[in-house]
Amino acid sequence: QKTPITVAYGDGIGPEIMRAVLRILEAGGALLEPEFIEIGESVYRRGHTSGIEEKAWESLRRTRVFLKAPITTPQGGGYKSLNVTVRKTLGLYANVRPVRSYEPFVATKHKAIDLVIVRENEEDLYAGIEHQQTDQVVQCLKLISRPGTERIVRYAFEFARRNGRKRVTCITKDNIMKLTDGLFHKIFEEVGSEYPDIQKEHMIVDIGAARLAEAPQRFDVILAPNLYGDILSDIAAEVAGSVGLAGSANVGDDCAMFEAVHGSAPDIAGKGVANPSGLLQAAVLLLVHIGQPEAAARIQNAWLKTLEDGIHTPDIYDERVSRKKVGTEAFADMVIERLGKL
Ligand code: NAI
Ligand code: MG
Repeated sequence: QKTPITVAYGDGIGPEIMRAVLRILEAGGALLEPEFIEIGESVYRRGHTSGIEEKAWESLRRTRVFLKAPITTPQGGGYKSLNVTVRKTLGLYANVRPVRSYEPFVATKHKAIDLVIVRENEEDLYAGIEHQQTDQVVQCLKLISRPGTERIVRYAFEFARRNGRKRVTCITKDNIMKLTDGLFHKIFEEVGSEYPDIQKEHMIVDIGAARLAEAPQRFDVILAPNLYGDILSDIAAEVAGSVGLAGSANVGDDCAMFEAVHGSAPDIAGKGVANPSGLLQAAVLLLVHIGQPEAAARIQNAWLKTLEDGIHTPDIYDERVSRKKVGTEAFADMVIERLGKL
């Protein structure tokens, strides 16, 4: 029985990494029936300010599962962020970003990183309340609601429990934004008191970011409002090796979207060198989500074995640990060769 999913090739390196990932999924025995939709640059250029059309929404409402390659958001006014629109329309309130280091197989700045960032995904400065105040002043409002915060805080603690994690670190700037970040922190303490089995700590975002860069292995689950969570997850992915290695799940009550944490990388698009690993990690999260954990494990193991064998795309290539530098398609071939072998 194949599960229908919606798939978008995206922009920049999107089509290259998506093709590679779909090949690995197929070879790995994932039972999927992809429905392809067009989103991003080409749709923006046809005059849709949101970068997505009605027929794409129909597919998303039908399948409720979305594997999405990165897209390019055109510069300049009048365009809305497609990611923000999709997250808000489908109610994808939790953005879950696992970050691991893979030493000694991938050169990392830090060893033994194994953390998960749980980022609130609909509110904060990304709520889209931004306007021209006067000809000299523009304004963007920060929105933090009690229901929205309770939901994400509970999600983080439930996630910690379900995954055997010991500690949740809440990151805000409540020394300055006493009402908004203050409420987020307060609800963290309130809801957290229902989880005596999980340790709780709070850090101001400045020192939190500094510690994440210096000692990422001390973190377990990190919970943050939208903006800090966005920034912290790129820091974490990069210190663990490369932004090209991390995938994410955007989860709501009845829909979910899976994507790499990185963008469309226009600087390397079309060269066939992009690392498909971030999108592949997202696809593995998708397989677990739709109830195909065996295929997820088979693919994850083959991918780990490929890294262990020192087969690396240029972004993670390092003479100390790498043996062979390969492009996107060859990397996918190497993963496929290793399916079912441990
Ligand atoms: P980026 O993440 O696309 O690239 C940053 C750097 O990392 C570049 O040097 C790039 O070559 C490298 N990189 C990223 N992914 C890689 C991969 N898989 N393999 C090897 N190297 C990789 O960020 P940037 O350049 O700021 O944004 C480019 C475009 O992507 C922008 O239009 C931005 O709006 C969009 N974007 C889209 C996202 C999405 O669709 N989810 C998320 C972030 C940015
Ligand atoms: Mg980001």
